[in-house]
Amino acid sequence: MKEVSLSLDYHIYRLAELPAGYAGLLARAREATENAYIPYSGFRVGCALLLANGAVVTGSNQENVAYPSGLCAERVALFHAGHAYPHIPVLAIAISAVASDGSLPFVSPCGACRQVLLETESRGGKTITILLDGPEGVVRIDGVQGLLPFSFGTDYRSSFNPKG
Ligand code: THU
Repeated sequence: MKEVSLSLDYHIYRLAELPAGYAGLLARAREATENAYIPYSGFRVGCALLLANGAVVTGSNQENVAYPSGLCAERVALFHAGHAYPHIPVLAIAISAVASDGSLPFVSPCGACRQVLLETESRGGKTITILLDGPEGVVRIDGVQGLLPFSFGTDYRSSFNPKG
């Protein structure tokens, strides 16, 4: 038996310390929360992606009376970027939220969004910088791998049965 541990390096910035490029992207994520459609949770999430061609793609959570039919802000933006800029890598993602009482909670992407982020990163071939907004500051994580250890990634494609 062997004991193995995983660790994650991340940075925490006070808002005033954020480099200008990141601050601009975070501002776009905060702005995107205004377009959330959230009649069921009251929890607004906004997301902004920076692409390698300089384009910024934003998204907000879109809910539905059939709850699982709704989509998180991150996947709204990531799938839109995949559609509008299919060959352009995503370099960074900023995520921000506004709770139902108007406060700014710390926000971190759900498992399904991490899975889509992982494939966006491997598809683009560039490490994605993740910026998570919160009341104590902004967390920066470089790379999706750290957020999703033991992941089911595109490496598994080679073991799929094409006739299956
Ligand atoms: N949500 C997001 O859009 N992104 C996250 O990172 C966490 C959760 C949404 C889904 C749902 O509309 C609401 O927040 C409450 O879960």
